[in-house]
Amino acid sequence: MSSQYGRKLKLSIFGQSHSPAIGVNIDGLPAGIKLDIEKLKAFLKRRSPGQNDFSTARVEDDVPEVLSGLVDGITCGAPLAIIIRNTDTKSSDYREQRDIPRPSHADYSAFIKFGGHQDVAGGGHFSGRLTAPLCVAGGICLQVLNELGITISARITQIGKIQGTDEKMKREILIAKEQGDSVGGIIECEATGLPAGLGDPMFDGIENRISGIVFGIPGVKGIEFGSGFEGAARKGSENNDSFYMDGETVKTQTNHCGGILGGITNGMPVLFRVAFKPTPSIEKEQKTVNLSSKENTVLQVTGRHDPCIVPRAVPCVEAAAAIALYDAYLDR
Ligand SMILES: Cc1cc2nc3c(=O)[nH]c(=O)nc-3n(C[C@H](O)[C@H](O)[C@H](O)COP(=O)(O)O)c2cc1C
Repeated sequence: MSSQYGRKLKLSIFGQSHSPAIGVNIDGLPAGIKLDIEKLKAFLKRRSPGQNDFSTARVEDDVPEVLSGLVDGITCGAPLAIIIRNTDTKSSDYREQRDIPRPSHADYSAFIKFGGHQDVAGGGHFSGRLTAPLCVAGGICLQVLNELGITISARITQIGKIQGTDEKMKREILIAKEQGDSVGGIIECEATGLPAGLGDPMFDGIENRISGIVFGIPGVKGIEFGSGFEGAARKGSENNDSFYMDGETVKTQTNHCGGILGGITNGMPVLFRVAFKPTPSIEKEQKTVNLSSKENTVLQVTGRHDPCIVPRAVPCVEAAAAIALYDAYLDR
């Protein structure tokens, strides 16, 4: 199982939704970085469940516990290991899942891959809960990037088919919830202040690196950079970004390339959008199979679920971008 990422910054995420703890081991962080744990907790809070009507009723405090790599709040060069204890687990909700896979969740593919030994409770290692340690690592990278003058921020641009105001998007989620259904959406993320020259051609470009980690967020089904799919319908004359001098700095008039040319940053903001599918677990009846009896059956998923994972995924996208960009920065 590969739950590792990074070239210079090597992170390894471990745990399952209902294991005693989940966590991350980060190797390659430079020594001498002062971490603000309160700021990290505030970042994690944005992802935590149980805060509003849109998210699962599971309540987790998500307190990061540093096991190693930090002395007096400063990184010491040893691997930084941080865990978050799972406190609000209810495994009985999921017993049926070993035999009856939820449509569009990882239950069936994990069953085949791990021969039925996978931890099904709460989605096991495939749970959205594993984005908590991703946010721990990303929150730390964000702190370091901020010190370098680099900022990363993400926002929701679409929920279901709604692109309008926050209120309309919230209503769309609540309607889906009332119907025992779910909705997906789109998150846009922008990183500013990046130097030109980060990344590599072909297989280690900034697009590759960001995509690789963003697809580690469960529920992600698409990513586009700059003008993305819309750019495919434009003429070169409409889509090309003209260069100009801003004092001594080369800039572009538009940013249809999303700040990346040939896999390498050009100094303009890195811009990408991520498509999330609707939450697979829904209360509506769905057709599935019983893997033991080899019969068709129907399933109504009970238990605790997000009717829309998009609001909680916003810091996850920021975290993923921060890890990819800080790794590229260390690799420059
Ligand atoms: C923050 C977050 C919370 C999630 N919560 C749920 C959930 O409550 N129920 C569910 O079925 N899927 C949830 N998911 C999505 C599933 O974990 C994901 O769809 C599943 O693991 C299959 O992976 P895939 O969609 O990437 O193929 C969540 C994802 C994230 C990022």
